[in-house]
Amino acid sequence: MDFKTAKENKTGPVSGTIEPQISLQDQRSDDEGGSNVIRFADIFAGIGGFRIAMNNVCAENNIPHQCVFSCEIDKYAQRTYQANFNEVPTADVTKVSPQDIPDHDILFAGFPCQPFSGIGKQKGFSDPRGTLFFNILEILKAKRPFAFLLENVNRLVTIDEGRPFRIILRRLRSLGYNIHYQVLNALDFGLPQRRKRIFIVGFRKPVFFPWPDKKIVRVPLSSILQKRVRKDYYLSAEKKKDRKSKHKAKCRPSIWHESISGHISSNAYSCALRATASSNYLLVNGVRRLIPREMLRLQGFPDSFRIVVSDNQVKKQAGNAIPINVVQAILESVIPIVRAGLGEINGDIANVPTQSYSLAA
Ligand SMILES: C[S@@+](CC[C@H](N)C(=O)[O-])C[C@H]1O[C@@H](n2cnc3c(N)ncnc32)[C@H](O)[C@@H]1O
Repeated sequence: MDFKTAKENKTGPVSGTIEPQISLQDQRSDDEGGSNVIRFADIFAGIGGFRIAMNNVCAENNIPHQCVFSCEIDKYAQRTYQANFNEVPTADVTKVSPQDIPDHDILFAGFPCQPFSGIGKQKGFSDPRGTLFFNILEILKAKRPFAFLLENVNRLVTIDEGRPFRIILRRLRSLGYNIHYQVLNALDFGLPQRRKRIFIVGFRKPVFFPWPDKKIVRVPLSSILQKRVRKDYYLSAEKKKDRKSKHKAKCRPSIWHESISGHISSNAYSCALRATASSNYLLVNGVRRLIPREMLRLQGFPDSFRIVVSDNQVKKQAGNAIPINVVQAILESVIPIVRAGLGEINGDIANVPTQSYSLAA
């Protein structure tokens, strides 16, 4: 399926600046209760992983939807976002007044993995001003979207004995949201990448929220590997020899993972892509680096996704992105609840379907 934003229901200007979007906000207010368009905001948008997942699930199920606001500070990520969604995200969320953000029904945010380590011990985190999580809270407080979906590294649950995570949950609940959270692994959702992430879903009403079934067939690594790869992605003969002397893979194809200490292991899938990893962090069969397209495929980005920045920037962008397949699976449970909550299904939350839609082929 094509993820392209053309599938979104475009009823007005959607741009990176706040001003023109105010007209959308007015339109939503006039239309309150009557519109069946699901509006969403893409905060800390990166290269738009949430947006692609939302577009895919809504398009599969003929659900009108529209991104009304996006926000991303990194100029290279903005460039990629613009090339793919024809929209430059607003830059710095801390400079945005939450009231100026158009009304929306779902807020998406993979908030930056700031140094949570240590933060829970400081008095500071019980008052999370100064962290970007605070900006999410402020937007939720001002705009009251029916639902939100947040993503972060799974470590967030355990660092500092779970103190920062408990504060995050408490803060979200204090805004009146009903919270559900779970660590999910991209490997269980049709991506050959071991990537565990915490997902936090919130609804303005108490609902039964079914997390997606993890028993999805695993896909082979070969499904994301490029057959012909340019020579410059290959290690020198000397480096190849060195690695082969240190490690013997039990399967082929495999991705070799080299730790900071130089220890090498290999698997029939990739370890988690990392935004700041060294270039030889992951090697295909121990002999070459992943090409940018392979990195994006490991996160579920379609081949129609445009690459307009350097290899290094793609590495950073893919390493920061959300695994699209996982988010799609979550959205298949979230969207029916949102539609019910917005009055689509007799306006009765008791009628919220618990049956998942089938996954996109
Ligand atoms: C974990 S990444 C999110 C990636 C995104 N979910 C995706 O699928 O590509 C967090 C993003 O927040 C952006 N960011 C950090 N500080 C920001 C700020 N003050 N305002 C807007 N974006 C910010 C970073 O540049 C980074 O791209």
